[in-house]
Amino acid sequence: MRTEKQSGLEGVVAASTRLSRVDGEAGQLILAGYAVEEIAPRARFEEMVHLLWYGRLPDAGELKKLTADLSSRRGLPVPTLALLREAAQNSLPAMDALRMAVGTLRLGRPESPEEDARTLIASFPTIVGAFWRLRNSLEPLQPRRDLTHVEYCLYQIFGGEVGKQRARGLATYLNTVCDHGLNASTFAARVIVSTHSDLISAVTGAIGALKGPLHGGAPGPALDMVFEIGTPERAEEVILSKLARGERLMGFGHRIYRARDPRADVLAAEAERFYATAGDRDLYALARGVERVALRVLAERKPGRRLDTNVEFYTALLLHGLGIPKELFTSTFAIARVAGWTAHCLEQLRDGRLIRPESEYIGPVGLRFESSAAGPN
Ligand code: ACO
Repeated sequence: MRTEKQSGLEGVVAASTRLSRVDGEAGQLILAGYAVEEIAPRARFEEMVHLLWYGRLPDAGELKKLTADLSSRRGLPVPTLALLREAAQNSLPAMDALRMAVGTLRLGRPESPEEDARTLIASFPTIVGAFWRLRNSLEPLQPRRDLTHVEYCLYQIFGGEVGKQRARGLATYLNTVCDHGLNASTFAARVIVSTHSDLISAVTGAIGALKGPLHGGAPGPALDMVFEIGTPERAEEVILSKLARGERLMGFGHRIYRARDPRADVLAAEAERFYATAGDRDLYALARGVERVALRVLAERKPGRRLDTNVEFYTALLLHGLGIPKELFTSTFAIARVAGWTAHCLEQLRDGRLIRPESEYIGPVGLRFESSAAGPN
């Protein structure tokens, strides 16, 4: 059966999933049955992982078991650490270091989809934290088993005491962005695993897709824009000049949402809670002001496009408030999304068929071959 070509596969349904439903018109996101605003600010990250992998929340015993299992897998193979050291010495971007390190995770470990899924989730914070410390001329910290996943993420980057409020802020962030339908990186992972390749390969490909500024690379530039604006009075002038140069405003617009991205609201509420007691209130107020002006200007300059705030705008603000360096925003996103990637891979392996669309050939036909080489070889 042939269907019409859709630019960028917009509107094409390429998989069935029980993991998340993105309703772009209503601005709603359901994560395995739960509205994002219901579950993300309350759940432990390990609960979200269980929900995505097994289709239901864990009971107390299951949660304890999963938490213990993940925490036992935090150590990295020795060559992985050596590779991260090399990547840090070469000042590579954190997402490049993550992609390379993930490719080595099979070393010394048995292969099975479930094993890979667990190892991947457990290893991401160690990889990101070790790389960041090495980039800053600090030695990586030894893995610890006594912390929850979120506490461990913060510990790996900063060391020392983690702080409950900060851990809650990061948990809400990770839960909010852990899965989101067939976004580009998840699609990449599903395509790879649909050939019955392995999860390490699929997640390595997904990291490459997430890195791009049209997907997971937007929050750094979104924060830069807020800093560049500096004071609310300058917002309109800076935004107009960006649009006049043909630039996109990072943190606005979405392929699916034609209403406000519900994840932006969850993260805005978390950021508000956090900045009320622990962060820079002026920065929070400035970001709200920038958002208001950006939405007004986009509506005026791009009428009919229905461009609204996306998740990345408040990701930038919240992660900055939590002290996460801008260079790690996208890899922190990956620490969350690997839950969704692995769950989609497991679902694809269970229920899916080889993903192999067609292309429309638009080149010439009937050309005559004439070689410019002297001999046959
Ligand atoms: N700023 C200015 N104009 C925009 C923006 C924006 N952020 N987003 C879309 N537009 C404009 C485009 O220029 C285009 O206008 P035109 O037809 O007059 O040229 C129109 O809106 C439609 O844009 P498309 O590129 O067709 O929209 P698409 O669905 O392909 O893109 C995307 C979605 C990539 C997210 C886009 O909105 C964008 O580039 N946003 C900024 C980057 C960003 O925030 N990315 C994070 C997305 S969330 C996530 O991936 C987790």
